[in-house]
Amino acid sequence: MEALPDVFVTRRIPKAGLSLLRGCAQVKVWDGELPPPREVLLEEARSADGLLTLLTDTVDAELMDAAPRLRVVSNYAIGYDNIDVQAATERGIVVCNTPGILTDTTADFAFTLMACVARRVVEAERYVRAGTWKTWGPMLCLGYDLHGATLGLVGLGRIGGAVAKRASGFEMRLLYYDVHRQPSVEQELGLVFTDLETLLRESDFISLHTPLTSETYRMIGAEQFGMMKETAILVNTSRGQVVDQAALYDALVAGRIAGAGLDVTDPEPIDPHDRLLELDNCLVVPHIASASVATRTLMAAMAAENLVAGLQGRMPRNPVNPEVFDSKGRR
Ligand code: DGY
Repeated sequence: MEALPDVFVTRRIPKAGLSLLRGCAQVKVWDGELPPPREVLLEEARSADGLLTLLTDTVDAELMDAAPRLRVVSNYAIGYDNIDVQAATERGIVVCNTPGILTDTTADFAFTLMACVARRVVEAERYVRAGTWKTWGPMLCLGYDLHGATLGLVGLGRIGGAVAKRASGFEMRLLYYDVHRQPSVEQELGLVFTDLETLLRESDFISLHTPLTSETYRMIGAEQFGMMKETAILVNTSRGQVVDQAALYDALVAGRIAGAGLDVTDPEPIDPHDRLLELDNCLVVPHIASASVATRTLMAAMAAENLVAGLQGRMPRNPVNPEVFDSKGRR
């Protein structure tokens, strides 16, 4: 009987994924709360046929060269900026991600951030806990309305589209900017395509939905904050590096914009002494936009299915570099 392939899983993930893997592979799971240190990852990769990685693991050429048997890297995330995909393709290693299933959960959360920042929910809650609440006040914690406001989506992938659907329930005016114009989605969701500058100038809320690439790295910096309304609120559920955080701090302190909600930061975790954390108009949470029980379970199952398919020589459902397979789906 052929030996089962060896798989290293870089963190505990929901059971749905692990059970599936255990039926098809020899599975080793890193049990720590923190990601495996680099030397551990390199050591484990040495004897692995497959890796199930998280966005906190750097999978680069050095690691792949240290892993002569490695055939599949299945990322437990839709984003895969932690993986050198080109290096993987050159080595015939298939890379997979988990698109689609976290769309709605992430869109829900982008909206949660917008509402929390606009209506000062966290600041108000702190005020109550501090015992400062004395009476109902006509001017207490005044914020901004979502309904009827203009929402600018930077990036119109699946998540951007799902945010737009939610926004139409709030009767928001919808603008979007993307490198690819999408007329059918514009029609379906009532979106107006603009250049980035127009979007930044006209939007009350700006929500970022771009992948992290060399083009999107710090695409929102001092110049862009300078274009925004003084009442604008920026929300980021994509990747922290899309925003220049020093420029964001300056914009918030100078009142160039009204507030920000960050699910993602640069770096992660953000330094607990970072000046952004001192600001009442900046809400920072620990990269939890996809963190619902149901979605994380689906992500685990999808990442495991992708890994198993790749190890069995089948085309996984969500390959990032399908060119590793030939036209008949074989490697
Ligand atoms: C992703 O999947 O890329 C998110 O950032 C985490 O779910």
